[in-house]
Amino acid sequence: MSHTSARHLLALTALVTGIASSSAALAAPSQGETLFQQRCATCHTIAPGAAKMGPALKGIVGSKAAVVPGYAFSPALKASGLTWTTANLDKYLAKPTSVVPGTKMMVGLPDPAQRAAVISYLSSQTK
Ligand code: HEC
Repeated sequence: MSHTSARHLLALTALVTGIASSSAALAAPSQGETLFQQRCATCHTIAPGAAKMGPALKGIVGSKAAVVPGYAFSPALKASGLTWTTANLDKYLAKPTSVVPGTKMMVGLPDPAQRAAVISYLSSQTK
C-alpha cells in the first residue's frame, strides 16, 4: 500500500468512526425503547395493570420480583427472593431460566449492549 492511500484510509476510518459515534449518541435515548418494543412488548407493557403474557413492567427497576398485582407469577419467580437491581435484571434478561429455573419467561436478550439499553429504558419508566 502506498503512503498516500494509507493516509486516505486513516482519514476514512476517522470519518466513519466519527459518524458512527455521533449517530450512536443521537440514537441513545430511544434505543432502549425501540428494543423494548421489538423484544419485550409482545409479552409486556409498561402501563400498570395491563398484564399480557408477562407482567407490566412500570417501576420494575428496584422493585422486588413477582409482586405486581393481578399477574399469576410462576412459583419459581415468587420464591426467588430477587430484587430487580440493574445487575440482577442484566443476569435474568441474559438467560432467565438460568437465573430462575422454572420461570415462565423463556426468552432472553443475549446481547449485553442491548440489555444495557433496555434496562436504561426501564429505569426511566418509574412509578
Ligand atoms: C415470550 C414472552 C416474553 C418476552 C418476549 C419477554 N418476557 Fe419478560 N416475562 C415473561 C413472563 C411470562 C414473565 C413471568 C415470569 C414468571 O412468572 O416466572 C416475565 C417476567 C419478566 C420480569 C420479572 C417481572 C417481575 O415483576 O418480577 C422482567 C423484569 C421481565 N420479564 C423483563 C423482560 C424484558 C426486559 C423483556 C425484553 C428484553 C422481556 N421480559 C421479554 C414473558 C416474556
